[in-house]
Amino acid sequence: MKNVWLDVDPGHDDATAIMLAVQCTNIHLLGVSTTHGNASSEWTASNAARCLQAFGAQSHVRVYPGATKPLLLPAKHDPEIHGIDGLGGVEGLPKHDSPEVKARFAVDNDGSPIRALEGMSKFIKVTWNNGAGEKVSVISCGPMTNIALFVSAYPELLDAVEEFVFMGGGVGMGNRSAVAEFNILCDPHATQIVLNAPVKKTMIPINVTHTAIVTKKIHARLLDPSAASEEEAVPKPSTNLRHTLSTLINFFAESYKSTFGFIDGPPLHDALTVAYVSQPELFKATRYRVDTELTGQYTTGETVVDVWNYRSCDDTWGSDGKNCLVAQHVDVNGFFDLFLECILLADRV
Ligand code: BDR
Ligand code: CA
Repeated sequence: MKNVWLDVDPGHDDATAIMLAVQCTNIHLLGVSTTHGNASSEWTASNAARCLQAFGAQSHVRVYPGATKPLLLPAKHDPEIHGIDGLGGVEGLPKHDSPEVKARFAVDNDGSPIRALEGMSKFIKVTWNNGAGEKVSVISCGPMTNIALFVSAYPELLDAVEEFVFMGGGVGMGNRSAVAEFNILCDPHATQIVLNAPVKKTMIPINVTHTAIVTKKIHARLLDPSAASEEEAVPKPSTNLRHTLSTLINFFAESYKSTFGFIDGPPLHDALTVAYVSQPELFKATRYRVDTELTGQYTTGETVVDVWNYRSCDDTWGSDGKNCLVAQHVDVNGFFDLFLECILLADRV
């Protein structure tokens, strides 16, 4: 079993990451912290709670609201891609003010909310138990503000972290500027703090996530698990959960078509982080030195990946200077088999 702490800004693809974290049979999900990002922190926290509820998480898995803005910059949201509330067009999730969604928020004995940093540090500390217990993989699917605050506030707990796995950045490409990807662009300073941390890190860049496209064929399998091909798919989703996920994919597909011209379907960026922790054998990755451009005239938010090892002889980051594993390839069929398998499991809850 892999202990996982998940940090998200739902967000359509974040929602699918939550579904995987809840349903992957070798993942023990400790808790979910939320951040500003795709939408304001109020929306993302509530969306995470709705998703945990809808995807069958055990009742003790709670939401811990976190950073409302980046470390230094003003908050940026992405209504063009995710709608104002972060989950535009998604039908069938429990309502924001429903009792079961409210109950998903972690509270102290006196009823006051427990926030991201506190929840995350507590679970990691207890799970590690001074080395007598187990490590925790920390997954980041949004701007890395919460993770950077954790790194800065709890250096003594970094030994307890198995690895940081984050969706973000690109190798020579961006999606919110010529070279900057959204999560990194939102909080480049936080990203650099995480990259500097003495912990194993894996970056899942858009070069890889753009290959995990929900094509019509995958969407057909999502609608009806028994459909062998697009043609055989029933026109209607076979369960409520499949209806929810289908509306999610439809909205995301439309956003990606109108904004980026993706005609085959939307990429499930964030879900790949959880797939990586659950089934790392689906991925190929190489260690490089990675830094974030903090102030560039054209390049702020770029992840500078030193693929030619120009800086690897600099000793600052360890013996070979390479501070991050960078995913380069995912077995797309294997990933979607896992995704669809998790839907099947969620359907049974
Ligand atoms: C990332 O930005 C957000 O739109 C997605 O949720 C994902 O985390 C992709 O660039
Ligand atoms: Ca995200």
